[in-house]
Amino acid sequence: MKKIQIAVDGPASSGKSTVAKIVARDLDLIYLDTGAMYRAATFVALQKETNKAEEIIDFIKRNPISFMNGKSGQEVYLGLNNVTQVIRTNEVTNTVSKISAMPEIREFLVAEQQRIAHNGGIIMDGRDIGTVVLPEAELKIFLVASVDERAERRYKENIEKGIPTNLEQLKEEIAKRDYKDSTREISPLKQANDAVLLDSTGKTIEDVVLFIEEKVKAIV
Ligand code: C5P
Repeated sequence: MKKIQIAVDGPASSGKSTVAKIVARDLDLIYLDTGAMYRAATFVALQKETNKAEEIIDFIKRNPISFMNGKSGQEVYLGLNNVTQVIRTNEVTNTVSKISAMPEIREFLVAEQQRIAHNGGIIMDGRDIGTVVLPEAELKIFLVASVDERAERRYKENIEKGIPTNLEQLKEEIAKRDYKDSTREISPLKQANDAVLLDSTGKTIEDVVLFIEEKVKAIV
């Protein structure tokens, strides 16, 4: 199979990572969760109690972000530390848009993402993959869903994991994060001109996966 690059962008909780992981497994591609990288940078900022991009970057250079396949799927490391769970806390989720809007942080992480994607055979999800990170990607998907449906999906997931969650608060937080991510100055969340818009409202994960895999088959 030709070693293609696939970009999956879209707002918070639109199901990007769920479908990208399945497509990666089915088509034997590398999966890169770029949101996890911005979350790891945010975790560093909170731990070090700093807003200074150079301090965050310096720490990550000494303790690189890496991904490994573990018992519970893909795990995220910062140096030797497994940060898979701690980068998903509410504190990180509600701060990440601020840290990811910093130009130096974006420049640093985008360069890393491009390096990882260089040889192709990869599916990446994020906000600016089709517009900035991989402008030449063979397939670009812009995955959206209504705020209500996204909040309900996340609510269900949290309840299943035993995390106490308030649905109305979740809707507000998702809408706020979308607003911040789409209105920031650098690399805002935006559909690339050549991306395929896919609205997953009312669709199953299987429907979305099938749609993407059909598109891939038409290319390779
Ligand atoms: O995908 P996820 O929701 O985990 O992303 C967390 C945050 O990281 C987003 O809300 C956004 O602020 C930032 N992000 C970004 N660019 C990307 C991926 C994520 O700015 N490519």
